[in-house]
Amino acid sequence: MSELTVLINNTIHTASFTEGESLLAVLQREGFSVNAPCGGKGKCGNCTVAVQMANGSSTVCACRTPAAEGCTVVLSDTQDDLSWNFTPGSISARKDFSEGLGAAVDLGTTSIAVSLFDLSTGEKLETAGAWNEQRAYGADVITRIAYTMDHPDGLERLSSAVRRQIRQITEELCRKHHRSWQEIQRIFLAGNTTMQHLFVGFPVASIAAAPFRPYSVFDSPQDFLLDGKAVYLSPCVSGYVGGDITAGLSALELDRAEGNHLFLDVGTNGEMALGGENGFLTCAVACGPAFEGAGISCGMPASAGAINRFYLAEDQLRFDVIGGGLPKGICGSGLLDLAACLVSLGYISADGQLLCVGENGEEGVFSVADGVSLTARDVRQLQLAKAAVAAGIRILMEESGLHFCDIDTLWLAGGFGNRLDPKSAVTLGMLPEELLEKIRPAGNTSLAGTETALLSGDESRLLRIRSMCSYLELSSSAEFSEAFVEEMAFPSDADWEE
Ligand code: FES
Repeated sequence: MSELTVLINNTIHTASFTEGESLLAVLQREGFSVNAPCGGKGKCGNCTVAVQMANGSSTVCACRTPAAEGCTVVLSDTQDDLSWNFTPGSISARKDFSEGLGAAVDLGTTSIAVSLFDLSTGEKLETAGAWNEQRAYGADVITRIAYTMDHPDGLERLSSAVRRQIRQITEELCRKHHRSWQEIQRIFLAGNTTMQHLFVGFPVASIAAAPFRPYSVFDSPQDFLLDGKAVYLSPCVSGYVGGDITAGLSALELDRAEGNHLFLDVGTNGEMALGGENGFLTCAVACGPAFEGAGISCGMPASAGAINRFYLAEDQLRFDVIGGGLPKGICGSGLLDLAACLVSLGYISADGQLLCVGENGEEGVFSVADGVSLTARDVRQLQLAKAAVAAGIRILMEESGLHFCDIDTLWLAGGFGNRLDPKSAVTLGMLPEELLEKIRPAGNTSLAGTETALLSGDESRLLRIRSMCSYLELSSSAEFSEAFVEEMAFPSDADWEE
């Protein structure tokens, strides 16, 4: 066994490794949070870490670099603002509990949010968030499922990583409020179907292959355990319409709402539900990781240094960087804005060609700033993602026999949904123009739904909402394929000004 050093936050850790192991494999095993969108396949180039050796420092791809005796891996521990993830203070539905604490958890593919409650008063003590440490195993659920299939201990690793992290966040919250983990009475958790499976350690392979049936939809009141504490999981509708959607519909009270509402949670998958008090038609589409800032050349999560917004002012392209300073890359909402600006300036054609020449004379490259650019391939990734969302909406509308004028609200849930500029989404044809004025950001509805369920103690509400949902499988739908191809085009009459 050889050893290397990991330096993070001025703290030194020692990690052992065997000959031939990659730096990524070592960092994964030791539980360090490294962004590895393609799951270590060497395809995305986004798993860079700084390495110091006796002969100097360099930045390397962690999955393609073998661990070396005596090297030091320097990890940056950015204090990212995940507050978009949180929900506003008060929750109304509250039943009296005797004593103790409760935790509501939103287990997202990209990030995790935990709210700690004093159950005797119903008071929310605090919410904390963190990037999901499973990012070290892939940016999206398909890459993580593949990891569990490629590695004999993969499921166990992913499961224990997320369980350990949720306990850690909850314990830190407890400590901050001079309480203890022992006081936790109950935990409510919602996430997409794969994340809920990974949390409890259920096999996930069947979710990735036709007919995409999950091992469980968590539809019987069953408590799972996290280090001795009872955990209730939100019921899922299907392999790709998860407990986060059931919780989201509950948070917005759409199961009691008159009229027709479109609920959209877009990330690496686009999960959607259309309906109201009489039931919901749901479906899911695969968006790829572009909206999460992965799988594109200069993509990065919505953290410090990411361009999260582009706009045109007096015909000049301007941008904002999270935390200020020089840009390091572009996150999902920035990508959407940039493409919308370039479409309206005529630099991206209706069929998606990037008609620009980069600083070094390369065709199909738009240079944004030093080291940050958009490529023709990035535009293609975005086209695929936006076409999937638009086609999903179109099929839901057709199947339900509704017209856009019948829709009362388009709710946008999830991190990307809350950050995106609706006008950019409309300019690119991802969301229908007819609904622009009806678009409402909904915050972290998955967390809000679990908070309400935790405090009301009413698990049956989520089960009832699940029973109100019917699911449309789009993977084998000829109508969806046709709509998807048509939605690949960008609207040609785009007009996008600040
Ligand atoms: S290139 Fe290393 S994780 Fe993608």
